[in-house]
Amino acid sequence: MSVNTARTEPPTQHAGLRAWVEQIASLCKPDQVYWCDGSQREYDEMCELLVKGGTFIRLNPAKRPNCFLARSHPSDVARVEERTFICSASKDDAGPTNNWAPPAEMRATLKGLFDGCMRGRTMYVIPFSMGPIGSPIAKIGVEITDSPYVVVNMAIMTRSGAKVLEALGSDGAFIPCVHSVGAPLAPGQQDVSWPCEGDVARKYIVHFPETHQIWSYGSGYGGNALLGKKCLALRIASVMARDEGWLAEHMLIMGVQAPSGEKTYLGAAFPSACGKTNLAMLVPPKGFEGWKVLTVGDDIAWIKKAPDGRLRAINPESGFFGVAPGTNMSSNPNAMASVKANTIFTNVALTDDGDVWWEGMDGDPPAHVIDWKGEDWNPGCGRPAAHPNARFTAPARQCPSIDPEWENPQGVPISAFVFGGRRSKDLPLVFQAFNWAHGVYLAATMGSEATAAAIGQAAMRRDPMAMLPFCGYNMADYFTHWLNIGRRVANPPRIFRVNWFRKDDNGKFLWPGFGENMRVLKWIVDRVQGRGFAVESPYGWMPRHDDIEWKGLDFKNDTFYELMSVSRSAGNHEAQQHEELFDRFFDRLPKEFVFERELLRSRLWRSPERWELAHE
Ligand code: OXD
Ligand code: MN
Repeated sequence: MSVNTARTEPPTQHAGLRAWVEQIASLCKPDQVYWCDGSQREYDEMCELLVKGGTFIRLNPAKRPNCFLARSHPSDVARVEERTFICSASKDDAGPTNNWAPPAEMRATLKGLFDGCMRGRTMYVIPFSMGPIGSPIAKIGVEITDSPYVVVNMAIMTRSGAKVLEALGSDGAFIPCVHSVGAPLAPGQQDVSWPCEGDVARKYIVHFPETHQIWSYGSGYGGNALLGKKCLALRIASVMARDEGWLAEHMLIMGVQAPSGEKTYLGAAFPSACGKTNLAMLVPPKGFEGWKVLTVGDDIAWIKKAPDGRLRAINPESGFFGVAPGTNMSSNPNAMASVKANTIFTNVALTDDGDVWWEGMDGDPPAHVIDWKGEDWNPGCGRPAAHPNARFTAPARQCPSIDPEWENPQGVPISAFVFGGRRSKDLPLVFQAFNWAHGVYLAATMGSEATAAAIGQAAMRRDPMAMLPFCGYNMADYFTHWLNIGRRVANPPRIFRVNWFRKDDNGKFLWPGFGENMRVLKWIVDRVQGRGFAVESPYGWMPRHDDIEWKGLDFKNDTFYELMSVSRSAGNHEAQQHEELFDRFFDRLPKEFVFERELLRSRLWRSPERWELAHE
């Protein structure tokens, strides 16, 4: 592919950046180096190049203006946790939940892989800001990549280009990120539409936490390749946050606005595939006229103590990289509106009239589409048309529920943290922690069941704070960091656990979810604002049926109490599992967690075998 040659000279006086780019170019040996300016013109040119090269298909402009479809290689469809490494100097600093390799050994491996890996390709330099440029919470990164697909996705997901170089000046700090698809071209060799390294054992997503460096080789997909997202904004940022006294979290940020105009902001952490984007863009249900949910972010929150002592959060991203299947006008109308134009779709199906389709979209399935692998598909063929991890990359500004404050460089004030996994049994719909330390314990012991579609059974994995794949250091130290944050801030946010996924004995969901989650959010807001009622349970403060707003929904007392009940034996089993989780952290585990576990056990011991809220 050939690019606009005007952009091959470094448009910066930053000596450190220029030297680093030269050094990476001499290692990777691309045909040319291209500095991205982040302009609309550049975006359009790059999309055109991707169309010419066969990576992009332009969708029907009458249906999806300025939208494109990409189909990845079938071996390159998701993040690869087993090939993700935290290469701290000491193995203990990566902790028992991360893959670790000695940094010197890993650097030698990477040197071998990257040597000449961009032959026959263009090396793009993307200066980007995570967070509004100039925000005291934002950080600048520079991604080098040989993938124009990454360039256009980064243009949506981050603020990038000339304005970032300007903010960086001649000596600003930046986080260096190097990415290659790992598919050099011999002279005259024809490129493929989705180049990548086919052998998963040769893919590497590597982080050096002490030096804040990221190296990614072999994959062109999502979090493996868009290095601002999981690699920088979570794994490296979590290390910076520990050292600098703030929080980098796998959380959506939303504002709940009451009819009075009162606005309460929440940060909510859920493991992947638990509907974070849907919650962040929730449309209040019948009975909530005058209420609004405002979206600040759907995946990542950077949270810092403001001069007034309170925690304020920004969304470091500027786009949504959302899962497409299951998104429709009832599950998430705001996401559907966000992807009407200027959106990149990856691994969804292509309809005969040049639009996109995925499982779960509104209406009947089309009689024929081209599936995510480029093959003919019809509803009876027995294969999914879209890959289950198919994505849309859409600008956040296109979301109808985007909060007017979403780009406030000072962030928004956070009043509550909500943690929730996917649990079909034994965990109530909602409860509130007794205090900060108990809340951190509830967050750290969060677990989630894999969806049946993914693994055929409901296996549970503990995913503390939904950060298991994203914490760049030893999670025991991360728990201690969380405990310390609560001691340092004025009026720490209240902490809640939620579970939208509880099922009855016939496997049917007990809770309708989606927009109806607003009822739970309202109780959370009422608690935070000091007007909500609750009773004490072995797990935490719980609402009774009367404490929830039911206007517009006929939800039976009995079903509610079934959703909220816990049995003592299930509780004890849960406490036992907490112990097994904690054993892995050995002597680094904060001692507060041992106390919290024993307090849980003693509360359970005092409670009846089946603990139920009193029916009023
Ligand atoms: C994501 C994830 O893609 O958490 O956001 O996996
Ligand atoms: Mn995520």
